[in-house]
Amino acid sequence: MGIVQWEDDLELRIPDLDRQHQILIELTNAFYHAYQEHRENEELRRRFLQLQEALVFHMDAEEALMQTSGFVGLAAHRREHIMLKIQLEKLYDKLSGRDHSAAADLLQILQDWLTRHIREMDRKYVVYMMGKNLAVHLPQMVQVDESSP
Ligand SMILES: [Fe+2]
Ligand SMILES: [Fe+2]
Repeated sequence: MGIVQWEDDLELRIPDLDRQHQILIELTNAFYHAYQEHRENEELRRRFLQLQEALVFHMDAEEALMQTSGFVGLAAHRREHIMLKIQLEKLYDKLSGRDHSAAADLLQILQDWLTRHIREMDRKYVVYMMGKNLAVHLPQMVQVDESSP
């Protein structure tokens, strides 16, 4: 069982978007399992970077979409993205300094962030775009092979 579960109310009914959110949850859970199993710092850092890269890719794709559609809530939404990016950078530095409390902190932040941000912030622009009949397409996120060492 992962630390973050995909729940029906996380589904925004936009396949591209839902798929990316599912991948982010899968990566978070993969990181969680590695942490639970006391994997080496190097593996934790590798999984952290994978997760960070996917999160940044996803947030940038969302922002580009909101920008082109003229969504007025872009600034507030971007602020939440930026806050998370800053937190991720700080936590990665901490983890690189072999402070494993960074892994627990990351999981706690993402557990809350992924679900609340999707339910509240992402839903807002999806509602806006659907109201305007705008198509929501996101560039494809690199699929992660979880079996990789
Ligand atoms: Fe999102
Ligand atoms: Fe977002």
